[in-house]
Order: sequence, then structure tokens, then C-alpha cells
Amino acid sequence: MAKGSTQKTASATIAVYSLKGGVGKTTMSVNLAWASACISRRRTLLWDLDPQAASSWLLSTDQTSRDAAQAIFSKDVEVKKLIQPSTVPALDLIAADTSLRGLDHLFREMDKKKRLAKLIESLSRDYDRIILDCPPGLTETSEQVLRAADLIVIPVIPSPLSQRAMGEVARYLVQRGGAHAPILPVYSMVDRRRSLHRAALESQTGWPAIPMASTIEQMTVRRKPLGAFAPASPSAQAFASLWTQVERQLSGR
Ligand SMILES: Nc1ncnc2c1ncn2[C@@H]1O[C@H](COP(=O)(O)OP(=O)(O)OP(=O)(O)O)[C@@H](O)[C@H]1O
Ligand SMILES: [Mg+2]
Repeated sequence: MAKGSTQKTASATIAVYSLKGGVGKTTMSVNLAWASACISRRRTLLWDLDPQAASSWLLSTDQTSRDAAQAIFSKDVEVKKLIQPSTVPALDLIAADTSLRGLDHLFREMDKKKRLAKLIESLSRDYDRIILDCPPGLTETSEQVLRAADLIVIPVIPSPLSQRAMGEVARYLVQRGGAHAPILPVYSMVDRRRSLHRAALESQTGWPAIPMASTIEQMTVRRKPLGAFAPASPSAQAFASLWTQVERQLSGR
């Protein structure tokens, strides 16, 4: 378990989710998890739900795949048994592996709409913040995520296609009905030299923004969150400020 919490707090689950692939979900998940563990000193768990296992690859201390990530959901393996320390002190990880490719099918077969939410509840005594790195798409897995999350962070590249995907999710949530967690859209990979990006930023001045930066790309070479190798960079500061906004939104629950 992650140790060292200095603040007592109600546990909260933050899903980093998008209909679209490649918009910065994993990058955001890893850096928000770092900020939670290292800036806020929260007991933090990053749960990688994507069979691509990108955040697991970035953070895991143990790269041997046990192909057990899906077994948590069918109760074949106890969820706590798959928690491992990450390379960041005070940040724990439930790693993904390719077994998660069958997760949508499993959720449909099990017909337990709150399976993920229940598993998360069983972890809420041990963790203050649980960050979910989600696969793209509107699937059974995303349905489970939407039911389990207290806040849904959606990275949006300032482009018409990405903004359309954000609109699709919002429309879907309205059509689907029922309560869902608040949504925090965040501009991702922002390049202020591009007029399209500047126009998008001006149209939604309240959305936080993460810049397009080579320092952020460096994460995949160094296999570390930004805060671990460039804490003073403007990009790390943008993630820290996003984390402050996430915490502020959670405290208003
Ligand atoms: N702000 C940024 N600046 C520069 N590069 C970025 C930024 N955010 C993400 N990237 C790079 O873009 C690529 C896609 O990012 P990432 O893997 O975080 O997206 P994703 O939404 O998780 O993708 P997927 O849908 O495949 O899971 C990665 O190579 C990542 O390093
Ligand atoms: Mg990803």
C-alpha cells in the first residue's frame, strides 16, 4: 500500500477518459497521479484499464506480465493481490496487460453494472485518490468507468474532431440519463502558435490547458512522470495547476 498520507480525506476516483485515442489520456493520468502522490501527499493508486498498458510501462517496477489484469473483474484474483509499487514513492499501480482486451465482453457477460465501482469501493480505505487510465471508446468498460468515477477528466486536442468527440460524450451522457460525475474538459497538446488552437482556447476560456511540449514527449524515453525529471518546467507546472483544479472540484462534492 502507498504510505505517508498527511491529510485525512474522503477517497475519490478520477477517470481520465476520452472517446478518441491518442489525445493524452495516459500522459495526463501519470502526471496527475504523480501530483496526487508527490505534491498533495495523497495515498494514490493508478489503475491502468487499457490493454495497451502504456501507463503500466511508464511506471511499473515489474514488467513481467501475468495476464491477470482481467481476472480481477471475474473474481478469479483478489484485486489487492495485483497492486504493486510503482517507480514513484507513495504511488501504487494496478498494471494492465493484454488480458484486458476481453474486458468489454466479460462485463457484458457478467451483467454486473457496478463491478468496477464495487472493486474501487473495496480499495477506498487504502487510497485517497484512485486515477483510472481508460482505453478510448464508448464501450462496456467506459460505462463501468462512468459509474465508478467521482470526476471525469477529458483531454481534448484543440481541433474540430477532438472537440466533436467531446460533444459526442456529453450528448451520450444526456441521452443515457441518470446521474454521472462532473466532467472536467482539459485542452491537451496545445500549440499556441497555431491559429486553430488559439481560437479553440478563446472559445473555452475556463478549460485548463496542457501545452504541446518536447519535455512531455521525453516521458516515454525516460519512463518517468514529468515531476520526476523536470519539476520546474512549464509543462510540469501546467499539470500541477490542473491537479489543483481537480482537487478544488473534488472538494466541492
Ligand atoms: N502535451 C503533450 N506534448 C507532447 N506530446 C504529448 C503530449 N501529450 C501526449 N503526448 C504524446 O502523444 C502520444 C499520445 O499520448 P497518450 O499516450 O498520453 O495518449 P492516449 O490518449 O493515452 O492514447 P491512447 O488512446 O492510445 O491510450 C504519446 O507519444 C505522448 O508522449
Ligand atoms: Mg493511453
